[in-house]
Amino acid sequence: MIQSAPQTSSPSVGQPVDRVDGLLKVTGQARYPAEFPFERMAHAVIVQSTIARGSIKTIETAAAEAAPGVLAVLTHLNAPRLHSSPPSFVVGAAPPPPLQDQHISYHGQHIAVVVAETLEQATFAATLITVDYQEETPLLRLDDPHAQVLDNAFPDVVRGEPEAVLARAPVRVEATYTTPTQHHNPLAPAATIASWDDETLTLHDSTQGVYNTRAQLAMMLGLEITQVRVLAPFIGGAFGSGLRPWPHVVLAAISARQVGRPVKLVLTREQMYTTTGYRPRSVQRVALGATRKGQLLATIHEGTEPVAMNDDFREGLTRATALLYASPHLRTAYRQVRLNVAVPTWMRGPGESTGLFALESALDELAYALDIDPLELRLRNDTPVHPQSGQPWSSRKLRECFELGAQAFGWERRPRAPRSLRDGHELIGWGVSGSYYPYNRQPAEARVRLLADGSVLIQTSATDIGPGTATILAQIASDALGLPLARIRCELGDSNSPVSPNQGGSMLAASAGSAVHATAATLLEQALALVQEDECSPLRGASRKMILTGDGYIALKSDPTRRESYTAILQRHGLDLLEATGRAAPGDEAQRFGTGIFGAKFVEVRVDAELGRIRVSRVLSVIAAGRILNPKTARSQVIGGTVGGIGMALLEQTRMDETTGRIVNANFADYAIPVHADIPPLEVLFVEEPDLELNPLGVKGVGEVAIVGIAPAIANAIYHATGRRVRDLPITMDNLL
Ligand code: MOS
Repeated sequence: MIQSAPQTSSPSVGQPVDRVDGLLKVTGQARYPAEFPFERMAHAVIVQSTIARGSIKTIETAAAEAAPGVLAVLTHLNAPRLHSSPPSFVVGAAPPPPLQDQHISYHGQHIAVVVAETLEQATFAATLITVDYQEETPLLRLDDPHAQVLDNAFPDVVRGEPEAVLARAPVRVEATYTTPTQHHNPLAPAATIASWDDETLTLHDSTQGVYNTRAQLAMMLGLEITQVRVLAPFIGGAFGSGLRPWPHVVLAAISARQVGRPVKLVLTREQMYTTTGYRPRSVQRVALGATRKGQLLATIHEGTEPVAMNDDFREGLTRATALLYASPHLRTAYRQVRLNVAVPTWMRGPGESTGLFALESALDELAYALDIDPLELRLRNDTPVHPQSGQPWSSRKLRECFELGAQAFGWERRPRAPRSLRDGHELIGWGVSGSYYPYNRQPAEARVRLLADGSVLIQTSATDIGPGTATILAQIASDALGLPLARIRCELGDSNSPVSPNQGGSMLAASAGSAVHATAATLLEQALALVQEDECSPLRGASRKMILTGDGYIALKSDPTRRESYTAILQRHGLDLLEATGRAAPGDEAQRFGTGIFGAKFVEVRVDAELGRIRVSRVLSVIAAGRILNPKTARSQVIGGTVGGIGMALLEQTRMDETTGRIVNANFADYAIPVHADIPPLEVLFVEEPDLELNPLGVKGVGEVAIVGIAPAIANAIYHATGRRVRDLPITMDNLL
């Protein structure tokens, strides 16, 4: 049971309620980072390097400085010296600050910023800057023999004797899979407005974590944390691109200080391809050895990705392989190659979305090698304990996801042989994949304020980049206090509010949700304390265990007609408000249990037999993500992730010229993302599994598991339709001709 008072009215948590901020968004009242008005605001435009490696010999800024409306031009020659953040395994660390020296380590590195009265003047003046470079040959290919290979981002995971056991396994498959660079492409380009008030900096920024941005900006600028305030009440998408404070945020801050006015800096779409991260390309080798009955004996998964020159971003590329299925012998290894590329970062389902494309494709290949149904193969390798630690799972309903999905999808009607389903000129195929993302939770705090009119204000610094965080937090408070959802308001994305982690890693529902839950409970205790010795109150002497709440009232369990409203309690005690600030943090559950978020993805594709044109015609996602706080917003998350997965599988690919390092399709015309016509009706089912081992709400998180497994399920469906195994994403029609 949840540790809150019983309800007199039906609970809000678990109901598919509309977004509490929906009206603000559709009526344009929600303000996004670039939309905050300031007096005398100036505009900044960035100039980027046109080489990938070398240094600036000379940079000519005189013409730009003399151009109409120009207020300042900053380059490495006159920019203030800044401090570096610690390395990026401190989640969300900033890449090195910009304009610190003449060195260039990737194409698109910021080399100047122009500040002018208007955006047009700044844009024009930026074209007048000329640069003379000392060029060096860039390292751009993962197989470049001159590039440094790093093997220390994560330790290899080893069990048993994988190589020896693989060599003598009765059935083996082995293949190499590749995935391309892919970009987040949020609808709104990243934007920052920086304004200084004496020595205090305020930033409106497209960040997924205002505390993180505040801390890192303060460090880089040599300020106290209290001298920086970061605001991000709404953001036009991010998908991971807002998890780190990027160099342009620093440029906005130093530009504003330089000109003594607020400065707005909005990245162009093209700049979004080099300066707000991306999902790194990968080359992965998977080898599986199994018994003839389909028991995995040995698994080897090696993956390589690029890492930028002055950064150490890493992701859990092979992480899921060590725990998703039982395999007594196993080795996973993650390698990175230092290249002259822009800085990558987390992108939806980071690690798993890429890594499980390889593993789940290989499992499909193994199923055909064994002539076992691919879903059955996965069930045969389910594991009741965490295969590496041997610990029990806090909850793991992967089997239930597969079984429920199989039933709903009609999997039993699937003929096993490829190319055996046809509808006119279309080949039809069904594919399946497992899905997993780690369960994450960090400490979080919240403030809950109950006003005399019976309304509630929740404040926490968490951002809501779209998943519906404000809505679930309001639902949690509504239940904990017994106040109608309509009376509850959330203020998010302000670093002056209590601390919350980044909105990333699917962790915010468990982290901030638990904080609001705990804080609302404290507030209820405060209300009860007020009436403990209150002769006028029917609740006098009642303990927490003796009461229930609902409809704005606290009532006695033994006789619910004996009740009193929060409003009445506050009024009688002459109080304008009651306020509680609370904190919730994970305990040792992640040390005692195997944890994770699981799912199963089912896909139907139709491939034109003559043209190779691929259409995804059905997708069913079955997700076990703990307690589903709001089936409507959770479903919406899963749908969004599924669209991302379809793009990942069939369309999205950032192309870099491998001689210059320039990205050649940095725009929405040449970088294809799914449009409505690419997306069939998407079905979503949840296997409910409130996991009270993990937190009092029993919630895990759905943001990332939503995308994971879609790409391999599509690749597997394409194989089933056509008999063609494509191991390199994206899968395009020319692969199938
Ligand atoms: Mo997510 S890639 O942690 O925003």
